[in-house]
Amino acid sequence: MCGIVGYVGHRDAADVLVNALTRLAYRGYDSAGIAAFGNGKISVAKSKGKLKDLIDKMANEGKPLGKAGIGHTRWATHGEPSDVNSHPHSGAKVTLVHNGIIENYKELKNFLIQDGRTFLSDTDTEVVAQLLDHYYTYISDPVKAIIRTTQDLRGSFALGIVFQDYPDNVFAVRRESPLVIGVGEGESFIASDVPAIIEYTKDYYLLEHDEIAVLSPDGIKVYDSHYRPVIKTLKTADWDVDAVGKGGYPHYMIKEINEQPTAIKNTVVPRIKDGMPNLEECSIDPEALRKIRNIFIVACGTAMHSGMVGKYVMEELARTHVTVDIASEFRYRNPIIGEGDLIIIVSQSGETADSLAAMRLAKQKGAKTLAIVNAMGSTIAREADMLIYTHAGPEISVASTKAYMVQLSVMYLFAFELAFAKGTIDEEQYKYYTSKLLETPDMVQKVIESTTETAQKISTQLITADSLLYIGRGLDYALSMEGSLKLKEISYIHSESYAAGELKHGTISLITKDMPVIAVATQSALYEKTVSNIKEVKARGAKVVMICKEGDDVPSDVADFVLKVPDFEECLLPMLVCVPLQLIAYYTAVQRGNDVDQPRNLAKSVTVE
Ligand code: F6R
Repeated sequence: MCGIVGYVGHRDAADVLVNALTRLAYRGYDSAGIAAFGNGKISVAKSKGKLKDLIDKMANEGKPLGKAGIGHTRWATHGEPSDVNSHPHSGAKVTLVHNGIIENYKELKNFLIQDGRTFLSDTDTEVVAQLLDHYYTYISDPVKAIIRTTQDLRGSFALGIVFQDYPDNVFAVRRESPLVIGVGEGESFIASDVPAIIEYTKDYYLLEHDEIAVLSPDGIKVYDSHYRPVIKTLKTADWDVDAVGKGGYPHYMIKEINEQPTAIKNTVVPRIKDGMPNLEECSIDPEALRKIRNIFIVACGTAMHSGMVGKYVMEELARTHVTVDIASEFRYRNPIIGEGDLIIIVSQSGETADSLAAMRLAKQKGAKTLAIVNAMGSTIAREADMLIYTHAGPEISVASTKAYMVQLSVMYLFAFELAFAKGTIDEEQYKYYTSKLLETPDMVQKVIESTTETAQKISTQLITADSLLYIGRGLDYALSMEGSLKLKEISYIHSESYAAGELKHGTISLITKDMPVIAVATQSALYEKTVSNIKEVKARGAKVVMICKEGDDVPSDVADFVLKVPDFEECLLPMLVCVPLQLIAYYTAVQRGNDVDQPRNLAKSVTVE
């Protein structure tokens, strides 16, 4: 999604802005632009395409000069990607960049047209620029003009703004869309996300809804929507610039796959006391857990898939009914929830629009909410009743790997705690499962080392396929969903995941020799059943990749490729098996020459519905 940055200080603003935008590129974008204040005027440079296109354009036509400015990467929503639709957008005295969507932009645009204003672009953002310019004409105080403008806006926005009359200031305001204010020595920043500015400062403020920040080289002032000064609490990022580099790997995705053992350790170890999970710091109280009637896990994409694994484990261990819901469906289907129900919202970014709306709906209906979130201080994290942070560090690759892994690890922590609170496992089992979870970082490391070569070989067989099927039963089915999503989003090969036992009710008609099947069969109780399903697809000509445990007896005529993971506690096997699935997707995409870290049409943080 769009990324915004802003800078005021002693450095060349254009250089800082382009550098910061490069670090936001992971969010996904199709055009970029900056504006800087120099020689008494605001100059703008913008271009369709990648940041390189903007840099080339500035090399030919000159870059905006000055020590204060704003910048933007755009992921098109209103109007195609083009130079003219790229941000910044301007009125006579105002230039701004915007992340979000203005829902009532048409009615505002009509009003402004009737008032004699003309528009260059198709964007909702230009409407905000013109509206702010309109109010600024009457109210010459920029903060008052911003407050008045935001009163008219419906939707989501984070805005970075410069005014022709205030050469030493950058202004910012947000509602729903994320925005941080970076605090440096003699310089200040705005950014959609901390990684954009981590090279310059680790200290930042989080802006609340409708707060306005005024940045100058001397410091930052923040006001609420009634123009009252607000005292903010300074936050400090606990990771540094190395965490947002590729660290010698060719892509962020493979770096992040390799970071998984550390990410699990950082997430799990601090939550274990005396050999058992302790989630008190997350406001999770065993007494309250005992009273939970139903659990709903609500999320999008990969985060939702972690909930599928969570459902199997919670139902099995805690004997509690769990429904997994796609957030965009949940929020519009008037779900039957209320007091006594727990809604678990899972989100890497903590800003996903549908997940946030689902959480707010659940609260309205009287249910308790628990957020499992990676991004510190994000909106979902701030609004949930209970919160478990995953500690994956920044995830830059659009395709999620380490965030999924730590979401799984939290699903287990929570399931063990819930089961113990409900009395469906005893202390010995509780400690046993916890000790096995603590072994997973080493096991995941082993699996990365032992399966990389086989995953590479398997992907060589997949690169020419048009379509693929992932099958499994139980936990293996839950995991197949993620394997399939990972492959399709970065390799652009169509794939589906299917419950192996359901194939013969329709989908098996798709099977031909040209449809490879990846079959996951790690659960002993279901092994024979899945092998029978594999035989059914094999008999219809499919090329089969089978993933099972060391020691499993694989009949010689069942699979073309067998990939084995260590024999480990079965309920935790998804944490091991997801590694080869990630690797198969990664190497397939690499061999097809795709942009692995920024797949086409995708954005990292989906802040619009
Ligand atoms: C796929 C992927 C997405 C996200 C989904 C939710 O690799 O990353 O499916 O999982 O967009 O995002 P968050 O977790 O930020 O709510």
